[in-house]
Amino acid sequence: MSAIELKTELPGPRSRALFARREAAVPRGPYNACSIFVKEGKGAVVTDVDDNRLLDFAGGIGCLNVGHANEEVVKAATAQLGRFTHGCFHVTPYESYVSLAERLNALTPGAFPKKTVFANSGAEAVENAVKIARAATGRPAVLAFEDGFHGRTLLALSLTSKVHPYKAGFGPFAPEVYRAPYAYCYRCSYHLTHPSCAVACVDALEDVFKRYVEADQVAAVIVEPVLGEGGFVVPPSDYLPKLRALTAKHGILLVADEVQTGFGRTGKLFAVEHTGVVPDILITAKSLAGGLPLSAITGRAEVMDAPGVGGLGGTFGGNPVALAAAHAVLDQMETGALFARAQAIGATVAKRAAAWKERSPLVGDVRGLGAMWAIELVKDRATKAPAKDETAAVSKRGYERGLVTITAGTYGNVIRTLMPLVITDAELGEGLDVLEACLSEAGGA
Ligand SMILES: Cc1ncc(COP(=O)(O)O)c(C=O)c1O
Repeated sequence: MSAIELKTELPGPRSRALFARREAAVPRGPYNACSIFVKEGKGAVVTDVDDNRLLDFAGGIGCLNVGHANEEVVKAATAQLGRFTHGCFHVTPYESYVSLAERLNALTPGAFPKKTVFANSGAEAVENAVKIARAATGRPAVLAFEDGFHGRTLLALSLTSKVHPYKAGFGPFAPEVYRAPYAYCYRCSYHLTHPSCAVACVDALEDVFKRYVEADQVAAVIVEPVLGEGGFVVPPSDYLPKLRALTAKHGILLVADEVQTGFGRTGKLFAVEHTGVVPDILITAKSLAGGLPLSAITGRAEVMDAPGVGGLGGTFGGNPVALAAAHAVLDQMETGALFARAQAIGATVAKRAAAWKERSPLVGDVRGLGAMWAIELVKDRATKAPAKDETAAVSKRGYERGLVTITAGTYGNVIRTLMPLVITDAELGEGLDVLEACLSEAGGA
């Protein structure tokens, strides 16, 4: 049986009516990748209000590694809803906050004492990581990377690299943010080639410390182990270890932003585990609570204890319903089955994507780690001119056929895969067939 089942053209009449209401009632600012309205979701399939069944390769931007309406998540959250929905950890604390902190302290890399504080979103986790790093080091500056994405609140947005649509019109931005190129080998800023470059982009930070900011004024380097919004860029395996060594040399804290890469997406619980690198602070959100809003900042105990009492927190941070869901997610992660599944999904996507690249000049680069795959489209393989319109067309055609995908990349020319890891082989194959047909229509594959 086909997972995709379309009863109407997309969007159907009910979705269209809702979209008209959405346009009248909600500002245009929050973009919509598609204009169907969801009635329910299960696993990797969403059913819209017109009873169309669509395959989901986006997972609410990577929040649903355990799948839509995951049974254990629903059970745990529902049970917690019946006990108490909120107390505020600052006012009347509860055990699930402490026990989830204990679990994350144990599961994150690093055999040293750790502590965890909870917030609600990825951006809030980023903000807290910077506050903590500044308090711990007494230094003001933060270094982030080109093509990096860290969220939309003001400090997080200051760390985010992409101007349109994220930053344009929203300045002035937070001070003491510096930036250097990431290891985006397909579009190397230094026009070098790995491995002969010896990861020169890390050496280039020494230059930043000479030209822009003294190293001893830098509290933290914040890095995504694989770029998310920036185009699913997988750095070479010696990049993060070299970055770790450089930050250690200068007493700079390394913050790994695992908001998008975490919880099995790359085939391990955290993407840094592929490299052996141990960050000082690791931040998570998205798939942590299976679709409920929760983020975590986990780090060296002495670093995490730097801010004074009352310096961290917030009304909803570590909401008990979200915490219950996160415990259910971790229960499933701990079996390791989803990591193996992510690797298997990645292997299937890699094989298909390699064939597309072979067949079509539109496909400039394919890359991935675990189930986090990118198909980067170019107008011309020699110039690598980004094929933004073609990428949008592939995603739109896919949606019209019942496949939900989202794009990425500073140039908007990357199709990314964030399907729930519980997707079946048949569903995965069907989704990739649709993607292949759409690529083919756009002049590729
Ligand atoms: C790597 C990374 N950091 C931070 C964020 C911000 O998370 P949120 O949208 O939950 O604020 C995102 C969101 O996509 C992300 O991918």
